[in-house]
Amino acid sequence: MARIIFATGNAGKMKEIKEILKDIPYEVVSMKEAGVSADIVEDGATFEENALIKARAIAELTGEIALADDSGLEVDYLDKAPGIYSARFLGEDTSYEVKNRYLLDKLVGVEGTDRSARFVCAIACVWPDGKSKVCRATIEGELAKEPAGENGFGYDPIFYVPQFGKTTAELSLEEKNEISHRAKALREMKKELMA
Ligand code: IMP
Repeated sequence: MARIIFATGNAGKMKEIKEILKDIPYEVVSMKEAGVSADIVEDGATFEENALIKARAIAELTGEIALADDSGLEVDYLDKAPGIYSARFLGEDTSYEVKNRYLLDKLVGVEGTDRSARFVCAIACVWPDGKSKVCRATIEGELAKEPAGENGFGYDPIFYVPQFGKTTAELSLEEKNEISHRAKALREMKKELMA
């Protein structure tokens, strides 16, 4: 069975990815499982460009099919910040408690639909012959007034989903995987890989 290498070092993401892609006619392996390591500079201007940069680098390095994702939080009131800089926002080593409090403080006095935000995910696939495909998906919501919930990671405690009346940190993993930006983009890519 041909392999697909997923360009991530994040074990949690890899679990989610393997679950969603479990019935495609390829073996999906992490970079670690494939014995590949690479220091890839993500200098694209969009989620799509960054995902493509990562997938292309791994496809070129290995000669195999490569998948990569890039994701983040866009807050409309802050001109879509932190956006592609979500992981690096206020410094890579700054805790999410601090990052989340900073964002909430920026939106003090901002009400209702002006608090709109979304998680975005782009998934790129690059084949050894250079062909590529990118899928993008979002989950729409708003910034919560206060952090809530213990599940998930990153900005989950401050991302409120009106449809559920909860933050994504209050959703179970199964509930989040039903509606998440990453799961939706992956399911879209799965159609391509099944074709
Ligand atoms: P990357 O796609 O691994 O580069 O991650 C981008 C960053 O966006 C993460 O480090 C988080 O800060 C944020 N992010 C992306 N998806 C989520 C999510 O589902 N929940 C919370 N934060 C997220």
